[in-house]
Amino acid sequence: MSLNIGALRADTPGTRTVAHLNNAGSSLMPRPVTAAVVGHLRREEQVGGYEAAAEAAAGLEDVYSSVASLVGGHPDEIALMESGSTAWALAVALLPVHGRRILVARTEYRSNILVLIQLATRLGLKLAVLEEDTHGNINLAHLRRELVRGDVALVALTHVPMTGGLVNPAPAVGRLCADAGVPFILDACQSVGQLPLDVAQLACDILIGTGRKFLRGPRGTAFAYVRASVLEQAAAAPRSRLPLLRDNGEERLQARLLESREASMALRIGLGRAVDYALDLGIPPIRERVLPLAQTLRSHLAVLPRVRVHGQEHPGSGIVTFSVSGSTAWQVKEHLARQHINVSTVAMPPSGTEELLPITARTPTAVRASVHYYNSEEEIQQLISALR
Ligand SMILES: Cc1ncc(COP(=O)(O)O)c(C=O)c1O
Repeated sequence: MSLNIGALRADTPGTRTVAHLNNAGSSLMPRPVTAAVVGHLRREEQVGGYEAAAEAAAGLEDVYSSVASLVGGHPDEIALMESGSTAWALAVALLPVHGRRILVARTEYRSNILVLIQLATRLGLKLAVLEEDTHGNINLAHLRRELVRGDVALVALTHVPMTGGLVNPAPAVGRLCADAGVPFILDACQSVGQLPLDVAQLACDILIGTGRKFLRGPRGTAFAYVRASVLEQAAAAPRSRLPLLRDNGEERLQARLLESREASMALRIGLGRAVDYALDLGIPPIRERVLPLAQTLRSHLAVLPRVRVHGQEHPGSGIVTFSVSGSTAWQVKEHLARQHINVSTVAMPPSGTEELLPITARTPTAVRASVHYYNSEEEIQQLISALR
């Protein structure tokens, strides 16, 4: 079923004031999400924070089920977090480490790489970069050869890198890792909400997502899926201090042991509402809308003089990056902002190098325009006219 874009835009007050093409940064929230967050804050104002949480206990519990419906897995395998990078850093520590090398794609999200560098240094492991083609697609044959060596401790992959429309072949990577018995952690922060995800098909041990990007949830929300077997192994490890969580009088292992004791219940409720909103629309129809919009954007950009569009011909997600010769990415962003068009800037990874570290220390070189289903063809035209 196709989406009713007019109704969805009417449900998104921000569309009246901006052409928001920064969904990979943070989407415009739809009205029910804002209402859910504000509604809970009002209850906190009226009755107190703990009391409002007690009133909303059933709804808060439903958030775990909603996230599990979105990505697969059991609600016990879901933790609600405040940021994607924190969720990733905490969850990766649960993985068993047997082996001498960590394999990572060059497009891995930069804070994940920082954590991996620390982990590798502490445990005396080597960080090895997976080979890829000029567009950044990882070479599965190379991964297979590396796994066969039998010394790989962990594979980390970002499903949709923040720097373009590339979609890494996560299910194929997951299958190869599962066959080799190597833990696989998937950063799905840019894919959740715009592409279908299923942890069974992805064969990942851990999956991380954020709320504020393509899920259209509030800022300050994220989640982690941690496979039950990872929790069990972590709990069984010598000197393990993993707590069993008490739920309805029963003690069991739950991924929520990763959560902070203090968190915003209003934001969690908002995240749950955003997940339900996406589930009601259906992720496949969302994807069917996003991909042609991104393709339209890309082909209009490609014919503009002085504009160079990065990445592959057919974007696999809503993210399109480009550069304008004679202007910095920042100048282009500012020029567009003056015309009420939101985009962002990104640092493109240099191609053909094994070096990972500079990812953390690069200056923005490209403009990123990222579309979502509620964007209109007119907004794309607006961007193109403003660039012209
Ligand atoms: C691919 C990817 N992973 C992780 C993150 C980090 O998420 P957060 O900013 O919530 O820590 C981002 C944020 O842009 C991202 O694009």
